[in-house]
Amino acid sequence: MIAGHRGAAALAPENTLAGIRLAATTAATGIEIDTQLSADGIPVVFHDESVKRCTNGSGNVSSMTLTQLQSLDAGSWFDPRFAAQTIPSLEQAMQQCLASDLILNLELKIHHTPESIPLVNAVAALVERIHFPADKLILSSFEIAALEQCQRVLPDVRRGYICEDWSANQLDTLQPLDLFSVHMDHHILTPAIATSIKAANLQLQIWTMNDPIQKQRFADMGVDVIITDCPDQF
Ligand code: G3P
Ligand code: MG
Repeated sequence: MIAGHRGAAALAPENTLAGIRLAATTAATGIEIDTQLSADGIPVVFHDESVKRCTNGSGNVSSMTLTQLQSLDAGSWFDPRFAAQTIPSLEQAMQQCLASDLILNLELKIHHTPESIPLVNAVAALVERIHFPADKLILSSFEIAALEQCQRVLPDVRRGYICEDWSANQLDTLQPLDLFSVHMDHHILTPAIATSIKAANLQLQIWTMNDPIQKQRFADMGVDVIITDCPDQF
């Protein structure tokens, strides 16, 4: 399976509704997007701690209200054609995934560990309020505390552990999280690591793999999902 990274980050400004819509026109059957909380506690779709790189504003996402965040231009930095794009609320992005029939891999983007519990609680409240289907959702994070809170408040939603390093006893450490998947930086994946993950009955996803020529090599290792900026190339 192919999933669009941050929507479809090579085709449209990352983490925007335009990116989600464009991903749906490609081979992608799902997308990955990042979520964090606004100052008024609303989950929004954005990667960085600061709005500087991907909008025309400045300051941290966590210090701006949803209204302030949505007043920013989140598209022109990528291409003037996308000047109308704003930072989506997570609710808007979820509705777009449903409309576009895409599986949502939602990365809980934790910049500081104490953010984990309030973010997961807000995401859980939203999932329950809009009845987002559990079989269309994977909640993923680098942050163990966030995945533990998912296990407490949304036990029926699949959980994925994102990693950019791996140790010999990693699977033992992760065992209590009762994960569905491991989402690994493709640079560190080896056949031996892939074999151990598959033997543990976990789905294996890799990010951010933008070279279609390498698709078969990773498929041969047992990779289930390639998260890519350029799903149009696959
Ligand atoms: O979810 C996988 C990948 O998105 C993790 O890295 O920095 O792109 O959020 P990042
Ligand atoms: Mg991400």
